[in-house]
Amino acid sequence: MKYKAIIFDLDGVICHTDQYHYQAWKALTERLHIPFDETINNRLRGVSRMQSLNIILEKSKKQYTALEKEAFAEGKNKIYRNLLAGMTPDDLSDEVRKTLKALKSKGLKLAIGSSSKNTPIILHQIGLGDFFDAVSDGNNITNSKPDPEVFLKASAMLKLAPQECLVVEDAVVGIEAASRGGFFSAAIGDAQTCKSATYVLHHFGDLLNI
Ligand code: G6P
Ligand code: MG
Repeated sequence: MKYKAIIFDLDGVICHTDQYHYQAWKALTERLHIPFDETINNRLRGVSRMQSLNIILEKSKKQYTALEKEAFAEGKNKIYRNLLAGMTPDDLSDEVRKTLKALKSKGLKLAIGSSSKNTPIILHQIGLGDFFDAVSDGNNITNSKPDPEVFLKASAMLKLAPQECLVVEDAVVGIEAASRGGFFSAAIGDAQTCKSATYVLHHFGDLLNI
């Protein structure tokens, strides 16, 4: 591999917390009688909590105040946190675990670049609390993807230039953020059809062939 580091998105790349986001938003939309499906959910990938709520409310007939919106986002996060509380190291697949270890043993620096404020909790739950060389997440950024801020902060933490890093993403806006920031990118899952990605991964383990 010609890169010095890999910056991973978390939800939908390292673990399947994207499904928990979906379940938690689904509970809110059912309560508010707003249509919600996987297509809408895919637009929430990589997008901050508040921006995600605004996308969901596009389908609402009612207008809500800023205070009401805050309460909705908090309620969703509560449901989501309850789902996260049930996660264990078994929620990290063998493929992801083995691939991460193999990449690390090749001397690559490994980092997280996620828009989620729950990143530290998730990493702790799946047993990766101390694994990464840098963690850049929703707690240290002001602009979420497609803005490249979260990846630029991760590469700065690693003291590397964007051109030396590969970003792995399942969000279309994440691939866009990578290219805007001058990073190479590998698309997985929902982002696989994204034409601007440098590589397409059919499996996480394909990273070992780059
Ligand atoms: C990730 C997910 C998004 C989510 C965002 C904020 O980027 O892909 O769907 O909205 O994080 O997550 P948070 O845990 O802070 O609500
Ligand atoms: Mg993601």
